[in-house]
Amino acid sequence: MHANKVVFCTGGGGTICSAQVQALVSLGANACIVGRNEEKTNNVAEKIASTRNGSHVLGIGNIDVRKLDSLQAAVRQCIQTLEHINYVIYGAAGNFLAPIDKLSANAFKSVVDIDLLGSYHTLKATIPHLLESAARNTNPGRTIGGRIIFISATFHFTGVPFQAHVASAKAGVDALSASVALEYGPHGVTSNVISPGCIQGTEGMERLSSKEMRESGSAGRDVPLGRYGLVKEVSDATVYLFSETGNYVNGHVLVIDGGAWRLPGLD
Ligand code: HXC
Repeated sequence: MHANKVVFCTGGGGTICSAQVQALVSLGANACIVGRNEEKTNNVAEKIASTRNGSHVLGIGNIDVRKLDSLQAAVRQCIQTLEHINYVIYGAAGNFLAPIDKLSANAFKSVVDIDLLGSYHTLKATIPHLLESAARNTNPGRTIGGRIIFISATFHFTGVPFQAHVASAKAGVDALSASVALEYGPHGVTSNVISPGCIQGTEGMERLSSKEMRESGSAGRDVPLGRYGLVKEVSDATVYLFSETGNYVNGHVLVIDGGAWRLPGLD
């Protein structure tokens, strides 16, 4: 389904993003994943490549999305090796719990720089290649040539304690995606957001939840569906948005949280 497509993914060493890329690679795509930690990124790239014989999965470490030139160098390397880019996943993120009065200006800025500025840098570095892929598209009426997924969150829908920095950054990410959808849709590039909630086995869950929550196996009243999410539920959504089934979806925010963000605050 995704034969000859290339996905470029930041934060590709993380649990959610690596599963998203792995799902696409298993369906025929090749991939370039970038991350800060070189060893982790290379190991994950190798693991993803083992999903399908003959796949090409490039891992590029030592990339900090806060630096545009670092990302541009990674994109150049991706193009040299894999020739083009059709899909981009903006997965790099930083997160920790902190009350506003304990959050230094630099801590707030660090998260905004990784999540929002990093997304802008990724866009800046990859959009010429997505536009090229879209221009080469031989079936523009149906199949969209270039596709983007920003990974966001739900914190900014309602506001949330101890996550003011992340909520602020992710509100910007959603706004960036909406602007991209309008600006580049006419050129054959779609842009959508996936907003995962509590997904089992992820670093986000590790950082933001208690041990008790993680080990209980049940989300209780925190999630209307009564359980935390699965990584596969996020990668399935990714395949949907990047496939023909998602052709007409542009400027959307797809929340995958079992309905949790709609709950009123519980005691
Ligand atoms: C308060 C903190 C802090 C904490 C760091 N800082 N951790 N402040 N509480 N727990 C402050 C530091 O003191 C410093 O401010 C500033 O943040 C920058 O920290 P550094 O360590 O110098 O920066 P850096 O190494 O670049 O680290 C970036 C980071 C870190 C964002 C702070 O957490 C990180 O690298 N995270 C990457 C991985 C990650 O978070 N993945 C989870 C994504 S999950 P001062 O003032 O001292 O200089 C996710 C969840 C999705 O996004 C939603 C699920 C529901």
